[in-house]
Amino acid sequence: MLEKLVINGGKPLNGRVRVSSAKNAVLPIIAATMLASTPSRLVEVPHLEDVHTICEVISALGVKVTKDEANQEIRFDASEITATEAPYELVRRMRASFLVMGPLLARRREARISLPGGCAIGSRPIDLHLKAFEALGATIEMGDGYVLASAPEGLKGNQIYLDFPSVGATENVIMAASMAEGKTIIENAAEEPEIVDLVTYLNSMGADIRGAGTNVIRIQGVKELKGATHTVIPDRIEAGTYLIAAAMAGGDVYVENALSEHLKPVVAKLKEAGVTVQEDVDGIRVISDGNVKAVDIKTLPYPGFPTDMQAQFMAFTTIAKGTSTVMETVFENRFMHVDELKKMGAQIRIEERRAIVDGVPKLKGTEVRATDLRAGAALVCAGLAAEGVTKVTQLSHIDRGYDNLVGKLKGLGADIVRVDE
Ligand code: UD1
Repeated sequence: MLEKLVINGGKPLNGRVRVSSAKNAVLPIIAATMLASTPSRLVEVPHLEDVHTICEVISALGVKVTKDEANQEIRFDASEITATEAPYELVRRMRASFLVMGPLLARRREARISLPGGCAIGSRPIDLHLKAFEALGATIEMGDGYVLASAPEGLKGNQIYLDFPSVGATENVIMAASMAEGKTIIENAAEEPEIVDLVTYLNSMGADIRGAGTNVIRIQGVKELKGATHTVIPDRIEAGTYLIAAAMAGGDVYVENALSEHLKPVVAKLKEAGVTVQEDVDGIRVISDGNVKAVDIKTLPYPGFPTDMQAQFMAFTTIAKGTSTVMETVFENRFMHVDELKKMGAQIRIEERRAIVDGVPKLKGTEVRATDLRAGAALVCAGLAAEGVTKVTQLSHIDRGYDNLVGKLKGLGADIVRVDE
């Protein structure tokens, strides 16, 4: 059986859609529940495969996870952390599993985690995490596709400069340092809203962390953290995806719960392309007749244009009048959606880290593959605007990060179904 999304495109979208809580905030926050000696509760948790995976990871480490699916609540009891090894099977499925390293070091002074992606790509994608843990006094050993971090005497606060403002490394260090002895200062820290949300949660547990949302974060270690109840921020990438869908398909859509404060570059670029975007305190309204003009974007760490919106925005430029350029600076190889968009008639060429897109009047429906999460979202947006029928395969990628995508789009009048063929 092969599951597919079947989209009968070319219909405008109209109505309201509500954004769920942010995947990229809820994942580190679930990892952080491991730090508390008393139970925590998260409310309005989105139904996502990645949430399921991180819950499996922390369960394997001894956290008792109780899900109340009907009420979108999860309770966590991390009074005992019984294991220090994150299973390969789970880390392989989701890179963010690595976020348990900081909490494990804090609670158990040891962590053994398989390398995401295995030996072939080596330690590079986690080098910043490891360097920072070393600065906090941990010893790092590599071998056998695993990395073992240990700090038998406990972690000690230090001054840490990140060579790149990595989101995951910033989060991992914050969690580790929250219970370290003394003071830690992270310089060139990532400034993403998801980091601010993690710190809000940690501080409500009794942590002493200042400066989240700026590039210098100061953490005074505390001896113990207590469980807390937390509601996670809205997902700016999910919100941005619905803005793009409406801008491409045309129509009048209100994206409820979207925080315009977190979406400035996406909103600015849509406006520059000629889309009407109205922001208020409860959400963002987008009005489009599908007639849009070319714009250039360049991905950057927050507050720059988010790399997680690059694929969707590229889909948008494929039908924008004129030539757009899309420059990816955060990830080395994040253009896998280009070949799929080309199957739909898009005119794109790649020159190193830049994609040059010549807008065409219409995309044409065909069968395409979701090569990763946001690539999948981009193809759904493209399919909604295309002539004819688009079939999107490899839905497991999309399920990682979009809660009820089909239901939400249907609510806007889209002709989309999920089928088993
Ligand atoms: C997080 C997001 C992801 C988003 C990314 C960038 C989560 C769960 N995921 O991923 O959706 O696309 O931020 O906004 O929040 N790097 C290194 N060494 C390291 C760490 C990172 O070289 O030790 C590189 C990466 O290979 C990449 C860049 O830094 O090229 C950005 O990575 P990072 O900010 O760490 O992304 P993640 O936290 O993995």
